[in-house]
Amino acid sequence: MSTDNPSTQRTGAEQHEVGLSVRDLSKSFGGVRAVVGASVDFHHGRINALIGPNGSGKTTFFNCVTGMIRADAGTVTYRGKDITGKAPHRVAHAGIGRSFQVCRIFPRMSVLDNVLAGVRPSGLVALMGSGRRASDVDKARALLARVGIDHLEGAEAGDISYGQQKLLELAGVLMTDPETIMLDEPAGGVNPALIERISTLITELNAEGRTFIVVEHNMELVMRLSDHVIVFDRGAQIAAGPPSTVQSDPAVLEAYLGV
Ligand SMILES: Nc1ncnc2c1ncn2[C@@H]1O[C@H](COP(=O)(O)OP(=O)(O)OP(=O)(O)O)[C@@H](O)[C@H]1O
Ligand SMILES: [Mg+2]
Repeated sequence: MSTDNPSTQRTGAEQHEVGLSVRDLSKSFGGVRAVVGASVDFHHGRINALIGPNGSGKTTFFNCVTGMIRADAGTVTYRGKDITGKAPHRVAHAGIGRSFQVCRIFPRMSVLDNVLAGVRPSGLVALMGSGRRASDVDKARALLARVGIDHLEGAEAGDISYGQQKLLELAGVLMTDPETIMLDEPAGGVNPALIERISTLITELNAEGRTFIVVEHNMELVMRLSDHVIVFDRGAQIAAGPPSTVQSDPAVLEAYLGV
C-alpha cells in the first residue's frame, strides 16, 4: 500500500519495513475494556498518527507497548524481536522512546537535570548516585538547545510553561537516541507558537531517520504532520491510511461524531 504523503516521502529501503508490530493486544481494567484485540503495524520512517475519541484506548495501548503496564493478551514485536511484557528500560534499550500525556518531569529539579534523568529510565537513581558524566551533560545541553530551551537550563522544571515542559520531555526522550519515538499528545495544552516548534522538531527528527507514533487530538496538526493515520475506537483499530483518506472514512466520522 503506497500511503505515504508525497510531501514527506523519504527514500531508502527502510521506510517500508515494519518496525513496531502489535498483534491482538488486549487490556481491561476491571470491567472496562480499554484495548480490545488491537493489531497495528507501524512502518519505519513514517510519522504515524494514532487518533481516536477520548477513552478509545490510545494511552493504554502506549502503556502496554512500552512496558508501563502488562497487557492481558497479545504480542508486541520490534524489528522482529519479541518485546511483549518487557520492562520499560528493556523497551527503551530496543530503540523505542516515549513521552507522556501528562508531562512526567521532576518539578523541583533543574531543567538540565531533568534531561540528564532521561539517560536511562532509572535515570533519577543514576543521577543521584555516581554523578553526571561530562559527555551526558554536553549532550543534554545540545538537546536543550535543539528544542529551544537552553536558556532555561538552570530553572526549576516546575516553573517553566507547560509547552516548555513538553519540549523538555522531548529532549529527555532524545537522550537515549531512540529510533522510534512515541509521543502521547505532544500538543495538548500547548500554546500555538510552541505547537509550531514541536511540529517542526518532529518533521526534522523524522527527516533524520526517526520514526514517530503520535497520539494527538489536534486534527489540523495530525493532517499536516503525519504520513499515516491509525484510528482507534473502543480499544481497536477501525481505520488506517493516509490522512486524506482517513478524514473522510465513514467509520471514522461515526466514531467521532456518532453519525
Ligand atoms: N488505570 C486505569 N484504571 C481504570 N480504568 C482505566 C485506567 N486507565 C485507563 N482506563 C480506562 O480505559 C479506557 C481507555 O483509556 P485511555 O486513557 O487508554 O484512553 P485514551 O484513548 O488515551 O483517551 P484520551 O484521548 O482521553 O487520552 C477509558 O475508559 C479509561 O477510563
Ligand atoms: Mg490518552
